[in-house]
Amino acid sequence: MAEPSLVASQEEPEERALEAALRPKFLDEFVGQGRVRRQLSLVLEASRMRGRTADHVLLSGPPGLGKTTLAMIIAGEMNAPLRISSGPAIQHAGDLAAILSSLSEGEVLFLDEIHRMSRPAEEMLYMAMEDFRVDIVVGKGAGATAIPLDLPPFTLVGATTRAGLLPGPLRDRFGFTGHLEFYTVEELELVLRRSAGLLDLKVTSAGFTEVAGRSRGTPRIANRLLRRVRDWALVHGIEQIDARAAGAALDMYEVDARGLDRLDRGVLSALVTKFGGGPVGLSTLAIAVGEEPETVETVAEPYLVREGLMGRTPRGRIATPLAYEHLGLPVPASAPFAESATLFGPGSDEADGSLD
Ligand SMILES: Nc1ncnc2c1ncn2[C@@H]1O[C@H](COP(=O)(O)OP(=O)(O)OP(=O)(O)O)[C@@H](O)[C@H]1O
Ligand SMILES: [Mg+2]
Repeated sequence: MAEPSLVASQEEPEERALEAALRPKFLDEFVGQGRVRRQLSLVLEASRMRGRTADHVLLSGPPGLGKTTLAMIIAGEMNAPLRISSGPAIQHAGDLAAILSSLSEGEVLFLDEIHRMSRPAEEMLYMAMEDFRVDIVVGKGAGATAIPLDLPPFTLVGATTRAGLLPGPLRDRFGFTGHLEFYTVEELELVLRRSAGLLDLKVTSAGFTEVAGRSRGTPRIANRLLRRVRDWALVHGIEQIDARAAGAALDMYEVDARGLDRLDRGVLSALVTKFGGGPVGLSTLAIAVGEEPETVETVAEPYLVREGLMGRTPRGRIATPLAYEHLGLPVPASAPFAESATLFGPGSDEADGSLD
């Protein structure tokens, strides 16, 4: 694939340090997600009052919405040390045993991408979560023995972009599950306001709105676009960023008013102009935009469907009336969307943005 898009929701490696600098440290600074925030605050408050470690917490939702941030906040709010690992890093039960047996009392263990842990490790985790105990297996085959080991009470915070892939027994062992939703434009404005303060940037209210509207409901993208706008303003000698400046900057980076990038728009306009709005098969559509079908399907499509610009039907992809409007084209009277879009519209999209 070409270079990563500005509106990709995954974190770029070189972005890590920049993101860390903008991460809220306490629940009060964490913008949006009102429901999850209130519930989590209660869980933490109650455990503080009881003087016990907090219940295990599962955080699920699409990339860039604040799972890692919340995990760090939980440790901060509990005044507890934080240990970080991830599903892919734990391939053997022994890897997990080593981590668990070195935890201190009250420690928060953050397991990112918890759905990608190996099965034996997962089974060890069940017991550790429930009874704060693990069986360490020593030796192999018939001579193998299990040595039980007590663990200090700890709080597990699991994060996953694919809650659906988590086995039931694991899901059930979390005392609290918070599902993060995409942010509203107003919430993203608050995220941006805070970030601009930290970056020492002057932005007008309308400037924030402009950036927020292009950020696909995702704080990570909002912060990334803000950094690009900052570059643009610096080079153009602009001290105060208003809506026009923000818009011009992001137009230059080819992120349009709805947050579509070049590929998204290419797919949409091919669908509309070359295939009469569809239905057209994925591979044909991909050829028309010179991309791999997989790229179109995993990179462009989820957001187009989520935004209600594109629909998936058994006979192929179709453009919705909104797609024509977005491209500034008249909506044809006899388009194929009427019957199928209701069946396969954005509502059928999984919450995590994947389509399978
Ligand atoms: N509610 C929020 N308020 C302010 N900033 C936020 C919020 N949520 C996320 N951010 C910012 O967005 C960036 C990405 O958040 P985070 O790394 O927590 O996402 P994530 O859900 O863990 O993503 P991934 O699934 O890729 O691991 C962070 O730099 C953080 O500063
Ligand atoms: Mg994360």
